[in-house]
Amino acid sequence: MKKHLIIGNPIDHSLSPKIHNHWLKKYNINGVYEKFAAKKDELSKIVKKIKNEELFGANITVPFKQSIIPFLDTLSSSAKKTYSVNTIFKKNEKVCGDNTDIVGFELAIQNSNFDFKNKSAFIFGAGGVTPSIIFGLKNLGIDEIFLSNRTLQKVENIKSNFPFINEVKWGEIENCDIFINATSVGLHKEDNLDIDFKKIGKNKFFFDVIYNPPRTNFLKNAEELGHKVLNGKTMFIYQAQKAFEIWHNKLPLVDNDLIKFLYND
Ligand code: ATR
Repeated sequence: MKKHLIIGNPIDHSLSPKIHNHWLKKYNINGVYEKFAAKKDELSKIVKKIKNEELFGANITVPFKQSIIPFLDTLSSSAKKTYSVNTIFKKNEKVCGDNTDIVGFELAIQNSNFDFKNKSAFIFGAGGVTPSIIFGLKNLGIDEIFLSNRTLQKVENIKSNFPFINEVKWGEIENCDIFINATSVGLHKEDNLDIDFKKIGKNKFFFDVIYNPPRTNFLKNAEELGHKVLNGKTMFIYQAQKAFEIWHNKLPLVDNDLIKFLYND
């Protein structure tokens, strides 16, 4: 039986077991996928379990996407570029780390029907997911990227790897085409990013990495002003799809039935 884990802390809210167990069953793979609320000092033990094949694969989520890296033998190019790992597995006797968040973000945006060619993007937040979003935007041909974070030092750190980024003081805004919330502001229903919508034109695209709650104030406020909005649900689904393909060499189907199954109970 192929055992898989999602490793993070907290982990209760994760929908990864639900989606992966659904696909394992659908594609007749003898496997199981569970949650594990890990502590930082347990990461090396988990990697050893992959090495000795007690575990077949694992997803890594907040706050371990970086701290898992020193325990791995090799990294994919996307994991190296972002210094962020969300999928691990054994290949050629080595424990490898990969990053499927970039693809997840790209596919989510591509499937949104928003014309993103030659557009500009504004990212709120310079935390763990931000390098993956920057790569996703670049891969989609979006070169003009603005970044703002409450703690300025984190923008500086990101700029050292991505010198083309335009830094914006926290609280200020640029009139871009795409606005992305990559902060944790919105996880609590009452959370609000204080955005001056008067400085933003019409018919823009607002994306929130958060998918629970499904409508953060960031998206609600934008939607009320007629902007197009999308939450992090599809990004979550597509990063899971890519992880499943890496492990099982099979790209699982993503359709409306899957989306309903995930969210309607
Ligand atoms: P980490 O900081 O470990 O990378 P994260 O969950 O990946 O954690 O990122 C949290 C992001 O949300 C950061 O950009 C954080 O801003 P700081 O760098 O200033 O901490 C942002 N964030 C969290 N709470 C916030 C708040 N109340 N106002 C503004 N930004 C906030």
